[in-house]
Amino acid sequence: MVVAIDGPAGAGKSTVARLLAEKLNFTYLDSGAMYRAAAVALDSAGEGHLGQQAANLDIRLGERVLVGDRDVTDVIRTTEASEAASRIATVRSVRDALVERQRKLLAEGDWVAEGRDIGTVVCPGAELKVFLTASPEERARRRAGQLATDWRTVLRDQTLRDEQDSTREHSPLRAAVDAIEIDSTDRTVEDVVTQIAGLARTVRR
Ligand code: DC
Repeated sequence: MVVAIDGPAGAGKSTVARLLAEKLNFTYLDSGAMYRAAAVALDSAGEGHLGQQAANLDIRLGERVLVGDRDVTDVIRTTEASEAASRIATVRSVRDALVERQRKLLAEGDWVAEGRDIGTVVCPGAELKVFLTASPEERARRRAGQLATDWRTVLRDQTLRDEQDSTREHSPLRAAVDAIEIDSTDRTVEDVVTQIAGLARTVRR
């Protein structure tokens, strides 16, 4: 079974998806970490054949994120890597390479998969689709808390990334028609996780 959780940056997807996977005893897939790892690894590789290069990358997700032997766990969370990931995520051939990998993973077992296009492109047959949102200000405040920076600066960068993610030609961020929209603005993580776990159990029956 696949639970797809899509939505904009800072909506709480990662926290919710990780806790939900634990609660349901499913495996967690952070598809954004793949784009981030690809962006970091391809950064100095220059233009041209990016898709082929992305397809050849040995990206391993787990407690640590590795590209080959290189541990990129921390570097993929920097502001620079966020921007690079958002940029590289607009390249069709890179998306194709990473989507193929994600589909292979999701083909077997029980997953909570988080990203922007899980319910629309990667796994349109997901048994449960959630589109998690929160107000732009709240999302910026949450990110600023994690990064220990000013939330207005985060809001400015986030608005640019939101714009890039939702207006790109290939797989723009949008809710699947059959997704359940959940606004996490005034809700605790536990509350949201409990709601989705309840939905997952209903679907599974
Ligand atoms: O979820 P995140 O912030 O770690 O994602 C990093 C970037 O990767 C984000 O700008 C959008 C992109 N992304 C995507 O295009 N498709 C996904 N399934 C996941 C992430």
